[in-house]
Amino acid sequence: MRTAVLASGRGSNLQALIDACGNGSLPIKIVCVGSDQPETVALKRADTAGIPTRVFHMSDYPDRQAQEEDILSWVRENRVELLLLAGYLKVLSPQFIRQVAFPILNIHPSLLPAFPGLHAQRQAVEYGVKVSGCTVHFVDEGLDSGPIILQQAVPVLAGDTEDTLAERILEMEHRLYPEAVRLVALGKVERIGRQVRILQ
Ligand code: GRF
Repeated sequence: MRTAVLASGRGSNLQALIDACGNGSLPIKIVCVGSDQPETVALKRADTAGIPTRVFHMSDYPDRQAQEEDILSWVRENRVELLLLAGYLKVLSPQFIRQVAFPILNIHPSLLPAFPGLHAQRQAVEYGVKVSGCTVHFVDEGLDSGPIILQQAVPVLAGDTEDTLAERILEMEHRLYPEAVRLVALGKVERIGRQVRILQ
């Protein structure tokens, strides 16, 4: 499955996906990696893995629509069949989502629908929940609102800060994202409206 990844920052989830492809546990081919930020660690990780990269920096476009049109041409040129958001900080517009015929997945560091949006781990600590976690979901036109593929709970411990919780959740993200992508790539994910069924 020809796969594109969009990432804005550190790219540790991208790295987990690259590593899973490398050790044969993830049957996809990451054919290109894009970022809305130049010079990110994510792009360096892709370079190191020999994956072609592209920067879609907002300052290079008159507006958001032009930037997304360029991303759309890029996925089409690369004959992409699956798009993975891995810490991509821009919300894709409904127009973009409607024009893409293949699945788009995202990973989010909370048990959705709790704590969508930015700083999910800070939201969890401030709210005082005892359990948080991570979610891999299909991207729809809302914010972190698409059908849920897999979730994994992570305890929130006494004395946790945003950073300590984020670190514990991230470790789980690195296992959950490749696993969810593997299920999608193997055709084991059936989507019926909001419900997602994992086929045996
Ligand atoms: C992760 O916590 C992911 O869940 C969220 O953004 C963060 C990206 O981290 N969407 P990294 O760039 O993959 O290290």
